[in-house]
Amino acid sequence: MSTTSLDGRSALVTGSTDGIGAAIAAELAAAGAHVVVSGRDTGRGAEVTRAISAAGGRASFVPADLAAGAPAVRALADAARDAVGGVPDILVNNAAMIIAPKPTAEVDEAFITAALTINVTATFLLTGVIAPAMAARGSGAIINIGSINGLIGMGGSALYSATKAAVHSLTKSWADEYGPAGVRVNTIAPGPTLTRRVEQFADHLAPLIARIPSRRPSKPAEIGRAVVFLAGDDAANIHGATLSVDGGFSAV
Ligand SMILES: NC(=O)c1ccc[n+]([C@@H]2O[C@H](COP(=O)([O-])OP(=O)(O)OC[C@H]3O[C@@H](n4cnc5c(N)ncnc54)[C@H](OP(=O)(O)O)[C@@H]3O)[C@@H](O)[C@H]2O)c1
Repeated sequence: MSTTSLDGRSALVTGSTDGIGAAIAAELAAAGAHVVVSGRDTGRGAEVTRAISAAGGRASFVPADLAAGAPAVRALADAARDAVGGVPDILVNNAAMIIAPKPTAEVDEAFITAALTINVTATFLLTGVIAPAMAARGSGAIINIGSINGLIGMGGSALYSATKAAVHSLTKSWADEYGPAGVRVNTIAPGPTLTRRVEQFADHLAPLIARIPSRRPSKPAEIGRAVVFLAGDDAANIHGATLSVDGGFSAV
């Protein structure tokens, strides 16, 4: 658990019914924030909120399908605002379509559109609703979950990497757009992280892990604690940064 206090603050974490998002929600709640957990799966959403409550934290679940366009995104922002009693202090754009490696020539147009819709368009639309309200209040922290794939090239992962590079770029533009109004926008770029889903591909990951300076994948809670840091006052003058949590993967 982090030593940063987020007592009295609120957070919306997209894609927090599972994986890294669920760990981010748990760490934000452990630091004192009232967290809105979101995703499509109501059963897993209830599990995540129950676990946070059982650990003494505060969480509310708001179901949302980020592939459903602007009205669904606006409905999520409105419901999150109702759940925590105002514009959230912290927005974590985490939900994404994870894409298994595939040759570029085998990726069809519909799939490209689907990936861009969740990984880029939904992040763009949700931030477009919440960031101006944070700016009007004069404070807020937005953390975009990027990836090492947004920093380095990886054959077979062109589409996923392009969506994540777009997220990294959005962070910098939004830091410039909203920073003067007191809204800090930063990226966390995880390396391979052992979620329930990724654990199923442990064999596939082995060669990647072998070249990581730390020689191990990240743990979801380690991404969560980096989010808590960037959301808290210790990061008060950090704007537009990319914090890699990848055991050194992208540095070598
Ligand atoms: N795991 C890694 O090794 C790794 C490495 C680098 C970066 N990342 C990044 O970390 C973030 C989380 O990844 P993860 O590994 O935790 O993924 P994951 O285990 O597949 O979880 C994805 C989350 O996103 C939600 N989601 C997916 N599609 C959605 C949609 N259409 N509408 C609303 N929610 C949706 C899922 O919830 P529902 O199913 O309930 O909708 C789930 O909670 C992503 O941005 C990913 O790019 C992951």
